[in-house]
Amino acid sequence: MTTSKPTILIVDDEVRSLEALERNLSDEFDVQVAENTADAEQILADHWVQIILCDQRMPDKSGVEFLTEVREKWPDVIRIIISGYTDANDIISGLNEAGIFHFVTKPWHPEKLILTLRNAVSMFDLQRQNELLAIELRLSERAAKKKVGDRRQKLRESYDFEDGIVRGKSSPMNAVCNTLSQVATYDLSVLITGERGTGKALAARAIHYNSLRWNKPFAVQKCKSVPPEVLEGELFGYNKGAVPGAVQNYSGLFECSYGGTVLLDEVCDLPPEFQVKLLRALEDREIRAVGATQARGIDIRVLASSYKDLKTEVAEGRFREDLYFLLAGVTVQLPPLRDRREDIPLLANFLFKQAVANLRKDAAGFTPEAISCMKRYCWPGNVREMQNEIERMLVMGVENDLLGAELLSPKVLMSASPDEEDDVAILGVGQGTLKERVEAIEAKILRESLIRHRWNKSKASRELGLSRVGLRGKLERYQLEKKEDHA
Ligand SMILES: Nc1ncnc2c1ncn2[C@@H]1O[C@H](COP(=O)(O)OP(=O)(O)OP(=O)(O)O)[C@@H](O)[C@H]1O
Ligand SMILES: [Mg+2]
Repeated sequence: MTTSKPTILIVDDEVRSLEALERNLSDEFDVQVAENTADAEQILADHWVQIILCDQRMPDKSGVEFLTEVREKWPDVIRIIISGYTDANDIISGLNEAGIFHFVTKPWHPEKLILTLRNAVSMFDLQRQNELLAIELRLSERAAKKKVGDRRQKLRESYDFEDGIVRGKSSPMNAVCNTLSQVATYDLSVLITGERGTGKALAARAIHYNSLRWNKPFAVQKCKSVPPEVLEGELFGYNKGAVPGAVQNYSGLFECSYGGTVLLDEVCDLPPEFQVKLLRALEDREIRAVGATQARGIDIRVLASSYKDLKTEVAEGRFREDLYFLLAGVTVQLPPLRDRREDIPLLANFLFKQAVANLRKDAAGFTPEAISCMKRYCWPGNVREMQNEIERMLVMGVENDLLGAELLSPKVLMSASPDEEDDVAILGVGQGTLKERVEAIEAKILRESLIRHRWNKSKASRELGLSRVGLRGKLERYQLEKKEDHA
């Protein structure tokens, strides 16, 4: 670490002794000399001294006394006593009070002395590195804490009820969000139900980040297809050796989330064997790690999500009623996307921006036709399905271009014709004669093929095995034409 010559200060009242030391050491060290302790102090104040080599017997004070003072004012300096007499008491007080690195006896041997001084220099360097690292650690801990705090704040903002949960002005999601925001600040358990992909996990996060626990952990435990013994270990923790492969103690999710919120995701699939253990832990507010004898207190708010109707699960004996009441302090039902079509264009744009950021590929947005196709589709997989659809469109589309309906998957394109807002599934065309129903399906196939070929009739007729004239006839009959809907 020290690049130039290390600085050494020699303090000795005997001038001859000083000169001899200086002569021997000046090749390797930048030598400063002082005949008394006052001069020595001045040099220490003016120079960056690494090592001080001090005679023990001086007229004003002893070397150990002086180095004790040096230790207080310049604790970094490595202190060495040089002495003709090695009194045991001097050595002991030297070690204890002055923190002496070494005692050199007179007469000294030049090579041995240089070796001792080199060791002292490397000691000094190590000491400095240690101090710098300690400062770095202190700084990095502070920086890490600040980073975590900043991120939590950002997260909190992104789960704001106003814009974190995207929805239209008269969407049924408004009532849902009102309930969520009302229950958020109370330490109530909330059961969030809804079809797959409707935003149950998002609702749970929004509750947490709008609650008083927002700056504490939020954790999710999946309950589906997890064996009961694994769930127990994951949630309650385990002791070293208590479960196969446990090489050290593990604090479970409940303990790690102390003060925060835990979402039991798809709680309807919680194994019956574990339901009673969970009930006991939540009721008693304490857990016992697998293999532990002592119970430990927990402080968590529990949220649960379910894609099945949990009341039916209770009625049919698959879910404990007492656990149900404990989890469902309040129940919030998320409506499927097909019941809130007004949200679709807004969600499409929101998910598009997310996809652009995640995939680092840009596009100019959607064509009106693409939006109107999305609005008509039934989205059985709800928002998650839409998210996947949009990511795929962005990947397949031309960079910086508009994303057209032709990029949508056939199932979306095959959805209802433009004039039938509520026609949701192609084979769900449930009324009319056989001829009428077959024709309805034929119209959907034609429309899907035309959109995919960007209304290029030659390509569509080739694909469908029709002549151009034949295709035109059908288009007229079904009144199919390219419409620039402004959804
Ligand atoms: N209203 C909304 N506004 C913005 N993003 C949404 C909305 N609803 C859902 N999402 C997003 O859609 C995705 C799926 O939602 P989420 O995971 O919360 O649904 P889920 O009901 O828990 O689904 P699953 O049943 O698949 O677990 C997430 O990325 C979520 O952020
Ligand atoms: Mg989920």
